[in-house]
Amino acid sequence: MQLRPALNSAIERLTSQCVPSPRMNAELLLMFTLDCDRAHLYGHPERELTADEVRRYDEALARRTTGEPAQYITGHQEFWGMDLIVTPAVLIPRPETEHVVETVLELMPLWRGRPGPRPLAVQHDRADVAEEPIPRIVDVGTGSGAIALALAKELPSAEIYATDISTAALEVARANAAKHQLRSRVHFHRADLLSEIFSDLTPEPSASGQPSAGLPRGEFDFVVSNPPYVGESEEDQVQLEVRKFEPRNAVFAGPTGLEVIERLIPQACEALRPGGWLIFEISGTIAEGVRGLLAGWDDVVFKNDLQGIARVAIARKPS
Ligand SMILES: C[S@@+](CC[C@H](N)C(=O)[O-])C[C@H]1O[C@@H](n2cnc3c(N)ncnc32)[C@H](O)[C@@H]1O
Repeated sequence: MQLRPALNSAIERLTSQCVPSPRMNAELLLMFTLDCDRAHLYGHPERELTADEVRRYDEALARRTTGEPAQYITGHQEFWGMDLIVTPAVLIPRPETEHVVETVLELMPLWRGRPGPRPLAVQHDRADVAEEPIPRIVDVGTGSGAIALALAKELPSAEIYATDISTAALEVARANAAKHQLRSRVHFHRADLLSEIFSDLTPEPSASGQPSAGLPRGEFDFVVSNPPYVGESEEDQVQLEVRKFEPRNAVFAGPTGLEVIERLIPQACEALRPGGWLIFEISGTIAEGVRGLLAGWDDVVFKNDLQGIARVAIARKPS
């Protein structure tokens, strides 16, 4: 079978099975099957597919018609310009989560001008940044590593930690860090939020191979997170694809959706230095509940996403 008819018949098949964006999905899965880009698809419409390619394309389409997200079939998702490995052990990183990364970067100039003692640059073993202040950041519930790796890429001097309760997710995050040459930049740890961060978060050796110093409480400048925040009570409003294929503990927090955030906020307060920022993703549904939980914090602001929905909660630990 030639490429063009194979693509057209795939679009028809996905359309008839009510798969959203059938052309985009058919193209994506064909590019994955043939290991080529879109230009190749449209530049070689008469290319003859081998029997093996036809079989593998058919298999990928069959999986997609069951509702399995294309990203789990191809094993890839782009986030912050990085091609990330995704498996069913991790949530597929969403574009709106990039607002969390953007927020940290926007706050950096303010952080650089902050008063008080600065962390010692020597902990990085990097002579070139010896005079630079080093932001210490922890990404809670890192999943594929999306937020932690984007920040590691953007902030070469930052000291970055990432935790997740799922060992399988951490394996994916570590693989992504290695893929993007950021393995020595992010310390990954299995933990229940930040509850074991001080005792259990034994730092891995630094880039130089030397063990890094332990982490005293109250020494983080930023706690960032995209925690599970969907309530089980709103489960029927969640796309079937998400419910059926994405890890349940990455999506649902408990009956109301606030349960994980409720635990995260006091733990973040303990982890942060005075004046440090807590930045986490939310949905419009829980915004008011989150505002209540942040009573006592300074500078509480909600940032909207491109749809005008409250998407990022920002709060500062009182100095
Ligand atoms: C919404 S996903 C976010 C994944 C990734 N940060 C992203 O933005 O794509 C939430 C993540 O939190 C993790 N998680 C859930 N409960 C947790 C807990 N109690 N402690 C640590 N991580 C948790 C899940 O395993 C999942 O990887």
